[in-house]
Amino acid sequence: MTLNLKDKFDLCNSIADKFQRARCRISLEREIVREGLKAELDAVSLYETLALMTKKPQVRNVVEDIAREEKAHIGEFLALLVMLDDEQMDGIKKGKKEVEDVYGR
Ligand SMILES: [Fe+2]
Repeated sequence: MTLNLKDKFDLCNSIADKFQRARCRISLEREIVREGLKAELDAVSLYETLALMTKKPQVRNVVEDIAREEKAHIGEFLALLVMLDDEQMDGIKKGKKEVEDVYGR
């Protein structure tokens, strides 16, 4: 079962137990950041596709610049996620090592 963010927000606010409510809100904050991260990843894919499609170099240059800005936004959301989720940095490091083990550096 997945809840949308509004449902989860309402769920968190309905929890009577203070400790459980706080845990729910921490989980909600992480989910908000992950949703932002997903949107930025989609934006990069969109702008890179648009850059490939346009025939006008001026349009391509601007769209490629916007794609680079979106990559910085990905970095911002990742930094937030690492701050909010103690396990995330370990996951990034493990994933990086597994890729390096398979493909080398
Ligand atoms: Fe963005």
